[in-house]
Parts: sequence; C-alpha cells; structure tokens
Amino acid sequence: MRPPDSITDGVVALRKLRESDRAVTLSTFADPLVRQWLNMPAKPSDADFDSLLRTIRNGFESGDRYDYCVTELPDDVSLGAVIASRRHRDNWEVAYLARAEGRGRGLMTRAVRLLCDHLLSAEGATCVAFGVDVDNHRARRAYRRAGMTPTVEYLDLDTRGGERVRCVLMTRTA
Ligand SMILES: CC(C)(COP(=O)(O)OP(=O)(O)OC[C@H]1O[C@@H](n2cnc3c(N)ncnc32)[C@H](O)[C@@H]1OP(=O)(O)O)[C@@H](O)C(=O)NCCC(=O)NCCS
Repeated sequence: MRPPDSITDGVVALRKLRESDRAVTLSTFADPLVRQWLNMPAKPSDADFDSLLRTIRNGFESGDRYDYCVTELPDDVSLGAVIASRRHRDNWEVAYLARAEGRGRGLMTRAVRLLCDHLLSAEGATCVAFGVDVDNHRARRAYRRAGMTPTVEYLDLDTRGGERVRCVLMTRTA
C-alpha cells in the first residue's frame, strides 16, 4: 500500500518534509531537549538536511520508513516529526521529536496516536513499539497517552557515548 501524503485528526496534520522546512528543521536538530535524547549531528548543516530529504524519499519509496512533519492546523509550519520505521515484517518502530514551540500542548501525543492508528489499521502492522530511555519521562508520558504501554525493560548501547542505558519498550499491538 502507498502511504498517504498527509494524515490529520483535524487538530494536527502529518505531512511530508519540504525544502521550505530547511531552516526550522536544522534548528530542531540543535534543540537542547532533542539533543539530550536523540543522536543528532554536532553542528547541523545543509548537508544533514539534504541527507534527511534523501532518507525520507527512499523510505517512502521502499515502504520501510514513513517520516512526517507535524503541524498544527491551520498552520503549515513544522513543529516536529514523527517517524515510523519497519523493523521486522509487520513490526514497526515509532519515534518522535518536537521543537520548543510544538511541546506542552498534547500535539505530539496526537501525532504519535495518528501514525500508530494508520500503521495498525491501514498498513497491517501487528505491533508498534519504541525503546525509550527510562529517564525520558516526558516522552514516556506522551507514548502512554498515545495508547502505548510499557512492556519490558532492557539495557541498550547509547549510540552517542557507547554507554549502556536502561530502556523501556513502549508497545501497542493490533
Ligand atoms: C517527546 C516529546 C516530543 C514530547 O513532547 P511533549 O510536549 O511532552 O508532548 P505533547 O505534545 O504530547 O504534550 C504533552 C504535554 O502537554 C500538556 N498539555 C497541555 N495542554 C494539553 C492539551 N490540551 N491536551 C493534551 N496535553 C496537554 C500535557 O499535560 C503534557 O505535559 P506533561 O507530560 O508534563 O503532563 C518532547 O519531549 C521531545 O521532543 N523530546 C526530545 C526527543 C525525544 O525524547 N523523543 C522520544 C524518543 S523517540
């Protein structure tokens, strides 16, 4: 199935990244909270944005990664992103991030819920999950509000420092 170009619940909209999102996307890469929890380039540059555009195009073409900007209607400005990556057959991982203007209003919870609903209903996903750092309480709360429940805890390698971090797998099944 071809993924939709946009998805909305009437409050937020998920749409594809565009060239006009370059400046706001690079500033989101540099946001301190985003950098605290995700592996971001040290000095975000145009090359990083170009690379992201290619990754997104390839992901939609292969059907293995759906990467959407999150906007608050009726605005079209990107407030963050929600990203679904196929991990194994019908199992998907859903990650998300927001810049400061997009946080604290429940918009990202809506975005995660929308993408999970789409994967589970239209894409035939059987499970959506994400392993989140146990100390990332803000993200854990939003995952829970989006319908995902904590299942197992495990140790993972931090991709930034190589240290082991304790993660909890947030899961929602069909
Ligand atoms: C994860 C992240 C996007 C969550 O952002 P967020 O602003 O907490 O999430 P939401 O947009 O869903 O907003 C929820 C907050 O808005 C509050 N809120 C205010 N008005 C609201 C409303 N009308 N409806 C719902 N929630 C509302 C909620 O109470 C909640 O705050 P709380 O958790 O302190 O109770 C953000 O912390 C982030 O970008 N982190 C860095 C990247 C990251 O860690 N990603 C997760 C791993 S992939």
